[in-house]
This record gives sequence, C-alpha cells and structure tokens, in this order.
Amino acid sequence: MGDQILARNAPQSLQEWIENERLQYRMSQREFILSVLKRVSESAQPWLLPPAEPPLAERIPFKFIDLFAGIGGFRIALEKLGGKCVFTSEWDKYCQRTYRAWFGETPHGDIRKIKPSEIPDHDILAAGFPCQPFSIAGVSKKNSLGRAHGFRDATQGTLFFNLATIIEIRRPPVLFLENVKNLQSHDGGRTWKVILDTLESLDYWVFHKVIDASAWVPQHRERIYIVCFDRKTFSDKPPFTFPSPPEEAPPKLREILEECPDPGYTLTDHLWNYLQAYAERHRAKGNGFGFSLADPDGITRTLSARYYKDGSEILIPQRGQNPRRLTPRECARLMGFGDHLPLVVSDTQAYRQFGNAVVPKVVEAVGRQIVQTLRWHLAADGTCLLKNTFAKAEANHNGITNL
Ligand SMILES: C[S@@+](CC[C@H](N)C(=O)[O-])C[C@H]1O[C@@H](n2cnc3c(N)ncnc32)[C@H](O)[C@@H]1O
Repeated sequence: MGDQILARNAPQSLQEWIENERLQYRMSQREFILSVLKRVSESAQPWLLPPAEPPLAERIPFKFIDLFAGIGGFRIALEKLGGKCVFTSEWDKYCQRTYRAWFGETPHGDIRKIKPSEIPDHDILAAGFPCQPFSIAGVSKKNSLGRAHGFRDATQGTLFFNLATIIEIRRPPVLFLENVKNLQSHDGGRTWKVILDTLESLDYWVFHKVIDASAWVPQHRERIYIVCFDRKTFSDKPPFTFPSPPEEAPPKLREILEECPDPGYTLTDHLWNYLQAYAERHRAKGNGFGFSLADPDGITRTLSARYYKDGSEILIPQRGQNPRRLTPRECARLMGFGDHLPLVVSDTQAYRQFGNAVVPKVVEAVGRQIVQTLRWHLAADGTCLLKNTFAKAEANHNGITNL
C-alpha cells in the first residue's frame, strides 16, 4: 500500500502532460487517466506494460503499416496481437483527429504523395483501400499483367496503383487487405480481376474470403479479406486458413444500447412520417428500399458511412415514441470499438468513421491466423526470414527460433 501514488504526486512534467491532453479531449483528469490506463491494459503493448511472459502460442513480434487507416481498426487488432505500427497514412482531417486521440500520433496524409522510400521496413502491410474502377483502356491491356510492372497499365490513376507500387518496392512479406463484399462484382468483375492479377503478378500467394462480422458483433457486415504472402519469402504455399467464427455468441444488440440515450436521437415526427411514406411508395412499386427497425434481440443491417443522413438503415424501436437512431457511442460498440476510446469529432464525422471502419475483432481473428502462419514459417525454416531486425531480435529474445 505504501507504494500507491496520487496524481498530484506525479512528476511535474507528467502532470502538465495530463492537463494538456485532458483539456484537448475535454475530459476530467479522472476520465483521462482511467481511459489511458484502460487503453494501455487492453492494447497489451510490450513497451507500455510491465514485462510479462507473452503467450507464445499466440504472439510473435512484427512490424506493420496502416494505410488508408481511417480510425485505425486494423491497428487496434494488430497491436493486440503484438504488432508494432511503424507508419500510417490517412488524409481525412477528422479521421486524423480521432487517430491522434486514440494512438497519440497523426497519420501521414495523401498516400499519392508518399514516396515508398519514406516507408520503413515492415512485415505486414495493412490496408482497407477505397474501391475504384480501373480504366477500360488499361484493363484491355490485361495480357501485360503477366509481365513485370505490367500492373501499371491497368491500375494507373487509382489508389490501388499507389498501393501496388509500395508493395512492388517495399516487398512486405505479408499483405492484409480489406474491402466491401461487392469488390468482386464491381464494374462487372473487372476491378476484382485486375486486383487479383496485380497481386499475382507481383509474386504473392493470394488468399481471400468474404467474412460476416455478425459472428463477432451484432451487425450483418460482410467484407472481403485478402491475405497475401510474398513468394520470395514463402517459397511453398503457406498453410494459411481464414478463421472459424468464435464459439461464444456475440452480444445481442440490446446489450450494446445505451440506457438513457439523449432524446435528440429520436426521430422528429417530420422525418419519421417522411421515412414511412417513402417506404410505402417503394413497397407499392415492389422495391424493398426503406427504413429498417432493428430487433434488439437480433442483429442490425450493415452500418454505412451514410448513416449520418437519416439513420434509416438501423432504427431502434421505442415504446410510445418515434424510433431513434443509434448514438455514435452505440455505433462504436456495434463495430466492436471499446468505450475507453474517446469520441472527439462531431456526430456526423463519427457516424462516417464507424460506417467506413473495419470490425477490429474480425481483423484480430484473421490476424491471429496470419501470425500462426508466420510461426509455421519460422519453425519450418529454422531461421527468421522476416525482413526486419526488430522481428529477428525480438523473436530470438522470446526463444521463438528454438521452436
Ligand atoms: C474504407 S476507409 C478505411 C477505414 C479503416 N480500415 C478503419 O478501420 O477505419 C478508407 C480510408 O481511405 C482514406 N483515403 C482515401 N484516399 C486517400 C488518400 N489519397 N490518401 C490517404 N488516405 C486516403 C479515406 O479518408 C478513408 O478513411
């Protein structure tokens, strides 16, 4: 007990830091300190926590980069698996604000302005890149994809081109990509073909699967996950498999709802009448479009980046009142982001950020499979072939190379 510390007994420089940060996030000193401690305990970062024996069956140290980072859904998951983020890019200033509040650093901006040489070595490149069509002129030259650098013709002018250029130059051993499910049918299937052809022409083993996050969170959210392994590092096709859904059931929608949400989230009569009339018009035409009242004992529809407009895709029924939309905190929970993460942007921006994000629990489950494959590779090869010295030093330290 004698070793307990009061905040006022902390060194002056630390007290000043707490004061500056808490004012920035408009938190009380208590809220700020608790949120920092909670985040440290949950992120399980070896350099933030007292040394503890890492569970070797689950964790190896690795470095990753977080591109098109949004609010860092990939980062939350990969840090939990023992990864260290060495570079981030995200150009949206509101996402940057949230990212800074959550991770203490501001991402680099426009990826098109970043030279691949500015990006440090890393083991895993993570990216939830925006889905854009490729020009037909470029795609018609698809035969050239087999040739070295052939992807340039087909992807020129798109963000995927920038991603592919970084991959070509930095050659990360593992790529971990995520996108909307309809990436496969986008632009008549052409977008998907160019992406797969590009990854293969860059000499990667490619695995992909559509996964519904509803096994982890109470939301139907199908996303395609693409995991690639560099053939130069993994000469044999690695035994990577996507994860099975967890055994324990996800929380019910009811469990993530706030007890006393602000009445401001209840739909006005005007909006509720409009949504009902709109749905009726479309029902009469045989269309299924309209609002959706969620079942608190079931799961919701997919939260989209447009949720801020009217919230009609996920409405919460209320006894004796018009339905309400989800609060930003409920959207965070619906995506699996913990309550310890402060909401530092307007409601509109928060809705957009959560609607665009990945579900960290799904990324963590896929990431765990990647980590297992890395362990398999280390064990099979007998030496650590991961590119960077950090991984080598840490792996040796943890005795992984003796497996
Ligand atoms: C689908 S979201 C990714 C969300 C992220 N996975 C998460 O968990 O929050 C794509 C992100 O790419 C960002 N983006 C689009 N163009 C960009 C560019 N040229 N440079 C950097 N970021 C960009 C967008 O602002 C958006 O946040």
